[in-house]
Amino acid sequence: MAKKTPVEWTRKHLLGLEDLSAGEITHLLDAAEKFLPYATGRTERPARKAAPQRLKGRTVLNLFCEDSTRTRTSFTLAAERLGARVVQFHAATSSLKKNETLLDTARNIEAMGLDAIVIRHPERGAPQTVAEAVNCSVLNAGDDAHEHPTQALLDFLAIRHKFGRLDGLTVAIVGDIRHSRVARSNLYGITKLGSRVIFVGPPLFLAGLGDIAAAVETSTDLDAILPECDAVMMLRVQFERHEGVALDLEDYKRGYQLTAKRLARAKPGAIVLHPGPINRGLEITNEVADGPQSVILHQVTCGVAVRMAALSLCIGALDRQRKSAKPSPLTPPLSRSTQRLSTGREGRGRKKRGLSREGRGRGKSSAGA
Ligand code: NCD
Repeated sequence: MAKKTPVEWTRKHLLGLEDLSAGEITHLLDAAEKFLPYATGRTERPARKAAPQRLKGRTVLNLFCEDSTRTRTSFTLAAERLGARVVQFHAATSSLKKNETLLDTARNIEAMGLDAIVIRHPERGAPQTVAEAVNCSVLNAGDDAHEHPTQALLDFLAIRHKFGRLDGLTVAIVGDIRHSRVARSNLYGITKLGSRVIFVGPPLFLAGLGDIAAAVETSTDLDAILPECDAVMMLRVQFERHEGVALDLEDYKRGYQLTAKRLARAKPGAIVLHPGPINRGLEITNEVADGPQSVILHQVTCGVAVRMAALSLCIGALDRQRKSAKPSPLTPPLSRSTQRLSTGREGRGRKKRGLSREGRGRGKSSAGA
């Protein structure tokens, strides 16, 4: 068999999986695989005490404008294990509360010296908008129901570990698809690697898929789909995004809760994933979440390795661009539309969430330059 030419990583941002090629996704996963021994902080090889200090002297900003446990902690540990310093930004106690815009916040902190911004934001496209306004790397840690690239990559790594490959598998993504950025990034990524994805849920959660509706197989019948599945990814019912959604919980459990009895219908050796946090007893029973087919905690471990890979690859690409670039202004000039979005007034009226309006309506994702 002809040897594949390795893909060179040239992107300084990781904003989504929609625009990544299969080769780039595999490159990221292969890099993550190498970091896996360091992902728990305990080296499996006693001779090696610590991860390679690839980000020594670097500074990463965790700019989180939504709640997070796993993703924030995982990015923090990933950056720190590679030797970087991590600054934690907390929206609730920041000047966003005084109507400072997101772009002003990002550019001001960048002026203190940053190599990367990891951003989670409740508005679709906010990471892209920030990436256009700063010089450093930007990594998307989840934007609205749009993309969550590192979550999908860690899912792929966990699945690849179990099956040794990512092609020819059938993966059901089950539940609150409509509000899930995890479902979208998984769809964009794993189908490029040759797996089949089926979105499963009640009609209520399969509605509003917009541009991806035509591209994805859907089903409202979990019991009928399970016998085809190698992996079953349960999604959290995302109540915080349920404005105007009337869900009958008992009905939902009857049709879609993953119980041991139901899981027995899946292929032998099928694995169960969940991005967390889990609504125990709603989308999944304790028995399944903590059972032998669950890889939920392994996903979390894979997450640190994936983020180590993503940070070091993106900052590596940034370094190469910085070296080859002509001297540039400290911060890039804002485009007309970005300027409009970054005036202090934009934040008003959205005070409750501590947000500004930049990023609204920006449809397409890009993995960035
Ligand atoms: C997911 C998220 O934030 O989108 N969780 C995560 O990053 N671990 C899914 C969720 O919140 O349900």
